[in-house]
Amino acid sequence: CGIVGVTGNDNAVSILLEGLEKLEYRGYDSAGIYVNDLKGNDYLVKKKGRISNLEAAVGPEVHGSVGIGHTRWATHGVVSVANAHPQYSEDHRFYLVHNGVIENYKELKAKYLSNVTFESQTDTEVVVQLIDRFVQAEGLSTKEAFLKTLSLLEGSSYAFLLIDSLDPETLYVAKNKSPLLIGLGDGCNVVCSDALAMLNVTHDFLELHDGEVVTIKPNSVKIEDAAGNPVERDSFHVSMDAQETDKGTYPYYMLKEIDEQPNVMRKLASLYTQESGRPNVNQALINTMKQADRIYIVGAGTSYHAGLVGKKLFEKLTHVPTEVHVASEFAYENPLLSDNPFFIFLSQSGETADSREVLVNVNAHDYKSLTITNVENSTLFREATYTMLLHAGPEISVASTKAYTAQIGVEAILAKALGEAKQQVIAEEFDIRQQLGLVATGMQAIIDEKEMIEDLAKKYFVPTSKAFYIGRGIDQTVSLESALKLKEISYVQAEGFASGELKHGTIALIEDGTPVVGIITQKRTANLTRSNLQETMSRGAKTFTIVRNGLAQEGDTIIIPDVDEMITPLLSVVPAQLIAYYTSLNKGLDVDRPRNLAKSVTVE
Ligand code: G6P
Repeated sequence: CGIVGVTGNDNAVSILLEGLEKLEYRGYDSAGIYVNDLKGNDYLVKKKGRISNLEAAVGPEVHGSVGIGHTRWATHGVVSVANAHPQYSEDHRFYLVHNGVIENYKELKAKYLSNVTFESQTDTEVVVQLIDRFVQAEGLSTKEAFLKTLSLLEGSSYAFLLIDSLDPETLYVAKNKSPLLIGLGDGCNVVCSDALAMLNVTHDFLELHDGEVVTIKPNSVKIEDAAGNPVERDSFHVSMDAQETDKGTYPYYMLKEIDEQPNVMRKLASLYTQESGRPNVNQALINTMKQADRIYIVGAGTSYHAGLVGKKLFEKLTHVPTEVHVASEFAYENPLLSDNPFFIFLSQSGETADSREVLVNVNAHDYKSLTITNVENSTLFREATYTMLLHAGPEISVASTKAYTAQIGVEAILAKALGEAKQQVIAEEFDIRQQLGLVATGMQAIIDEKEMIEDLAKKYFVPTSKAFYIGRGIDQTVSLESALKLKEISYVQAEGFASGELKHGTIALIEDGTPVVGIITQKRTANLTRSNLQETMSRGAKTFTIVRNGLAQEGDTIIIPDVDEMITPLLSVVPAQLIAYYTSLNKGLDVDRPRNLAKSVTVE
């Protein structure tokens, strides 16, 4: 979910709506704003669906200088206007927006609020009704009631933004686990889940720590720790330009972001390698990693898939055993660790709650960690021992593309640096700078074949409800990511599979016309995957291939340029990204905002 707030600006309505548009990637089931003009008029507007629905419903009469807003990714309660935020107390005095999950809301409701009428099914309404109750029944001030309520929320995650309509100039903020920033404006202050949302108002932000409570007025921001002690904190400057988040002449962000990949590769080469080809990576990080006897890579979704490629790179180039874990599993399974583990967190947004939960545990044990992320100052960026930025520019489309390839690029550079430090000959011989140059040119060549790929999408994927990508080794990891892209935005039930394993059960799903794509970039296994493709063809599958040039044969479908076999995912994924894009487009779907998803999931 995404949160915005402002106090002290007569353009509150447009600031909130523009902010919500920028945060739409965090969820877009429903959205709402509450605005107050400090002269006794206030307005609550909530709508199902996209921010554009909300904007259409906000009439010219809605105005004010203070307000809060929210875009929702439903957890508790179906998608409905009643369940949209802001949630409010029975007497319409308090309005609250919330990101997170309150674990014990049912118990709190039963214990304190048995005689209150509820309008929604949300955990958030319980919180705002509790605040109201403590003010009305116990005579507490708004802040005291807020603090008391927070103290009752066991094991919960939240970012809260509260407004009291009897003292509307003041905003109250608290967070635990979920991200939230305060932006410092000129005569006004703002609140947002992500700095992106408020770049039109300010570039100066204050980060908040878990357990802190903040009281915000137009000209002041008061941060207090859980014990009520004042906290001094310097602001940080976000240099990103608001224009960087525009999609320009592109119909969808996803196509823009696919097209940007060659430049991202060049940028990584120039920032993280020297002209001599030597890596340019923080020496302290390399020294720490040198001590590690095992690397643990943690990520979710596409970032997890980038981690699977990372494992191959680290093991080949550094000879350090490497495990890759799905964040939400690692957090609660407590896998056995080696004596000197080193953790790498992969996260485009730097905010994924599942990954953050693991990092909190890693820090509690004083283990060293690295976050590889696209977002400077994000939670995972701030809390890890070391960081490497992806420098991919903002990724807005829900389906991740350039962040995946940038993550692999950074992993390759890091593996090369660590391998060299460990005097591994293979790492010394691996010219990552030159390879990234080849990748950039190769990506461009594939992107230039867009029309051919669109034809394939129309022929194979638009008419189908299921599909397979298969491959071996590193190609299998790309098949997982390729299938995920197709699932996410075109709703084709696609599976990525180890090509040799298909025959041990899953081949039963192949029917007449089922598309099966073979990814073939590794010399050792090329013929094996070709045989596995034949097996599916004999059972009616419509097959085609994504093949590295050096292994191409007559009849192959998409031929990708040659690069070192260790980094072929950087190229083989690009046709799959374009296939997903064009399948979604030709099915008339919203490519950038697929149903049920959010780009950054800040609940566990
Ligand atoms: C969400 C998105 C995925 C993304 C995953 C991890 O589920 O829909 O596209 O891969 O989160 O996000 P992260 O920001 O941690 O890479």
